[in-house]
Amino acid sequence: MQHSGRDNGIARSLWPFGFALAAAAFLVGLVLSWWLVAIAGGVCVLIGAGWIADSIRSKHPHLLEETVEHQVEAPKAAAPVRAAAGPAMSRSRFLEAGTLGLGAVMGGALTVPAVGFMVAPAFQSQGKHDANVGPLDNFTGVPEGTFMVTTFLLRKDQGDVSRRTVYVRYNGELQSQPSFTIISNRCAHLGCPVQPSGPIDDAKKVELTTDNGPVSLTPSQPAGFGCPCHGGAYDAEGNRTAGPPVRGLDRFEYSIIDGELHIGKAYSVGTVAGTGADARIKKFDLAAPGQHVDDWEWWLYPVQPPH
Ligand code: FES
Repeated sequence: MQHSGRDNGIARSLWPFGFALAAAAFLVGLVLSWWLVAIAGGVCVLIGAGWIADSIRSKHPHLLEETVEHQVEAPKAAAPVRAAAGPAMSRSRFLEAGTLGLGAVMGGALTVPAVGFMVAPAFQSQGKHDANVGPLDNFTGVPEGTFMVTTFLLRKDQGDVSRRTVYVRYNGELQSQPSFTIISNRCAHLGCPVQPSGPIDDAKKVELTTDNGPVSLTPSQPAGFGCPCHGGAYDAEGNRTAGPPVRGLDRFEYSIIDGELHIGKAYSVGTVAGTGADARIKKFDLAAPGQHVDDWEWWLYPVQPPH
């Protein structure tokens, strides 16, 4: 990028303008799209490098002159002694370059690991959980419409801090396979734990231990779910029916392995059409509480790392 001119000793350049545009695109990308973040970040780096190189050239014109001089004198360099000597570097310039280079290496060595440790955990092994909550019989051998209030460890290696509660309902068979509805207890407004709107039969609570750690199962017959924090209400499919939540309750994928139910990745839904095994669900990546997922307001929320 060329300087457009020089007035009163102040160089005018388009580099800052281009860098500001790319930085603005980067910030907009943080809200809209990782692709925009990657592209704008790359453009920022390129423009930044060009700007730095341009600044060095304008502050040390001898660097450029020296290059031109060597280009002009190239034919003379055919003389054996001159060719062997090569361009000379002054001691001060060598020290300057060495100090800058060492500073860059030390700065990188200190900041890259720190930033990596800070950011990487948000992206590592997120959303790839598989929690064994025990034999299918505990979920299927109950009256129709029963939700089992199921608590389990999402990550056994993290202990009780990863304890989660979900509501599991057996829907009968779908294409010769057992069908389940697994609803998260995290309110879609601000994340408070929603409760079943109906009796919970503590007398029939079952405690067991699987290879994923302790699991407890308590039957409940709710008409829906309610949130104690701000009065959010949901029906038995997790659809919002009242209050401030902006979408339905999150759900979990599941699998059946050796006759045991495994709870998998969580995902978000806007609304669920139909009920039970016949429900039609459009899945969205797990969104934060309060975040819209299926309407234009989705665009107003920042991109998030996987949960
Ligand atoms: S957190 Fe549930 S309604 Fe506000």
